[in-house]
Amino acid sequence: MALIDGFGREIKYLRLSVTDHCDFRCVYCMDENPTFLPREEVLSLEELHLIAQAFTELGVSKIRLTGGEPLVKSNLDFLVKQLADLPGLKDLCLTTNGSRLKKFAPALAEAGLKRINISLDTLDPDRFKAVTRNGKLERVLAGIDAAIEAGFERIKLNTVAMKGNNDDEVLDLVNFARDKGVDISFIEEMPLGLLSDDRRKHSMLTSAEVRRLIEAEHALIPTTENTGGPARYYRMEDSDIRIGFISPHSHNFCDQCNRVRVTTTGELLLCLGNENSVDLKAILRQNPGQLAPVKEAIVNAMSRKPEMHHFSDEGETQILRFMSHTGG
Ligand code: GTP
Ligand code: 5AD
Ligand code: SF4
Repeated sequence: MALIDGFGREIKYLRLSVTDHCDFRCVYCMDENPTFLPREEVLSLEELHLIAQAFTELGVSKIRLTGGEPLVKSNLDFLVKQLADLPGLKDLCLTTNGSRLKKFAPALAEAGLKRINISLDTLDPDRFKAVTRNGKLERVLAGIDAAIEAGFERIKLNTVAMKGNNDDEVLDLVNFARDKGVDISFIEEMPLGLLSDDRRKHSMLTSAEVRRLIEAEHALIPTTENTGGPARYYRMEDSDIRIGFISPHSHNFCDQCNRVRVTTTGELLLCLGNENSVDLKAILRQNPGQLAPVKEAIVNAMSRKPEMHHFSDEGETQILRFMSHTGG
């Protein structure tokens, strides 16, 4: 059984958000004083497992756990263990801010997690504090080391490229990744949520600009490698790491979209840049423990997946949800 949308794209990748909570408040992701969802609105571990099972039975082979920050969810390693046992699931991965990895990396690796992506926008503690609105860089650096130590198959750093904020650190970040032997992706900022006009208009740095900054020191060789996500990867001649570019603005990747999201409240979201969704939680709670109705709703939802997102380069968007609600 395969999930095919109205444009002939096969959906094989599920981004499953396990919580809207986070210990950081990154400026591009959430409000300074966010309101978090009431507990009963958030999917339980059992519900998350059932949704993942429904998707894998429908042909999804990659699941990435997202948030908020997934590691603030209690017993996440238990869920990872359950998901790792799902037949048909080939790639189980997690995107984290890294702050709790020192504590959880060994248990996650043990539970069967294969790949981990860790956000890191700067190597300067004061800037880090400003971007995350109070996060501690040293904890994330310790988390990265713990992940390396735990022996995941692959680790990738994610850097949101911001003009006037971390463009002067692009080379330092690449060299940091290179020294650690981990991949790094640079992401063009997406205008989600009620961000200030100033942020929308001025902070985005395009992938081409980031590439030029790196090429001042390292020749970049394009590759056709693919992790099933939106990044386009390059390599350096004298290193094994990959440098990825995620360019929702300058290089639209929607024609190859292979993914959908399930939000913390169980909404099946068909595109990050669009409001089309289906309420899987309502179906689950009307039919507790039953897979068939959830699978039927997922299959029916496919015809509602839009052809592409409509983030505009002028920084205007109709999407008012914050990234922390959609799992990025
Ligand atoms: P890999 O499995 O390593 O390829 O990871 P990934 O890039 O799929 O996931 P990750 O959680 O590291 O996300 C990196 C960035 O890509 C985040 O900013 C996501 O919001 C963004 N992203 C992922 N999928 C999509 C998508 O379908 N559309 C858009 N516009 N952005 C996406
Ligand atoms: N634009 C681009 N990337 C974002 N992320 C969070 N908010 C945004 C945004 N507005 C990134 C985080 C994390 C990943 C899941 O998404 O840095 O690495
Ligand atoms: Fe938390 Fe990640 Fe959002 Fe930052 S980007 S506030 S770390 S969920």
